[in-house]
Amino acid sequence: MIQLLANTRSKEYPVFLSAGASNDAGKLWSSQGRGGKIVIITDSNVANLFLGEVEQAFVSAGFGVKAIVVDAGEEAKSLSEATRLYSELYRLQTRRRDAICALGGGVVGDLAGFIASTYMRGIGLVQIPTTLLSQVDSSIGGKVGVNISEAKNFVGSFYQPDLVITDPSLLKTLPRDQLVEGLAEVVKYALLSGDEFFYALESSHEEFLMLNMAFVEPMVRRCIEYKLGVVSDDERDYGRRAVLNLGHSVAHGIETVGNYTAYSHGQAVALGLIAAIRISEQVFSLEGDYAARLESLLDLLGLPVRMEGIDPHAVTGAMASDKKADDLSANMVLLKQIGEPVINCDVDAAMLTREVERLAGE
Ligand code: GLY
Repeated sequence: MIQLLANTRSKEYPVFLSAGASNDAGKLWSSQGRGGKIVIITDSNVANLFLGEVEQAFVSAGFGVKAIVVDAGEEAKSLSEATRLYSELYRLQTRRRDAICALGGGVVGDLAGFIASTYMRGIGLVQIPTTLLSQVDSSIGGKVGVNISEAKNFVGSFYQPDLVITDPSLLKTLPRDQLVEGLAEVVKYALLSGDEFFYALESSHEEFLMLNMAFVEPMVRRCIEYKLGVVSDDERDYGRRAVLNLGHSVAHGIETVGNYTAYSHGQAVALGLIAAIRISEQVFSLEGDYAARLESLLDLLGLPVRMEGIDPHAVTGAMASDKKADDLSANMVLLKQIGEPVINCDVDAAMLTREVERLAGE
């Protein structure tokens, strides 16, 4: 089993990575010197697939286990659901020596992590991510939170888990569209990391889509290692961590205009990456024909390369009023070279508009 180490200012913790690792969840938690009981928070889809096995993995290592199941879907990431879960944890006599295990994708990880960070001022947290997106991104780095009706992820905290168990074999039951969605983030990591990673994806994308573990595991490892490096430098997102937003400013605009339904997050990120690379070619003379290579890779992976049914001007309008952007003119991540991101790029509005129009085929 591969063991990676997250070394953030607030906490050091291991990330165990291997196909089948979730079967060892109890042993791995026990190896961290932890006792108490485990309360698994999961959603109705994941519960049907993996809850029994993961419960058993903890029970066989001697832990008492309880489970709370939330409805699958983004609606669960709310303060009202959090309030229900606090009461449920209290009813289950959960105390500070106990821990929450987030078993699921990004919604479950963010919600359960938020609960763990606030219940009794913070209790133990194990992340077992079950989607590609959560395995390479949201389960590590400690961003936890819920949505409010006005905006996504606006209430939350930085709360690092005590243990992450990443089991790529869990991806085998993932619907194809969710696997493909996660691949947009993998492509983002490749652009951030350098040509070797990008080329590996270009040459073996089919292995990923077929979930050949011999290929998936090292690719997931590269993504996790990249993120761990960034988060170790800048846990609180004051500087370098912003590199992880490559492609995300245009993506947020597309998601907002599409009401979070026209394009999934990963699909919007794919389009955002194309725009970011084309702008990088103009601003930094990025070489290597990456815009064309990126389009062809995204297409082979089943991700969109054209934006349909979305008004490009509404996208740039939404970007300008993105409530999360502190400085509206300086919130893009670009690439000087592949593997060399630059944060806080002040992109000319006309250039941005042109590139978003181009995504729409205008
Ligand atoms: N998903 C971006 C971050 O963790 O900062």
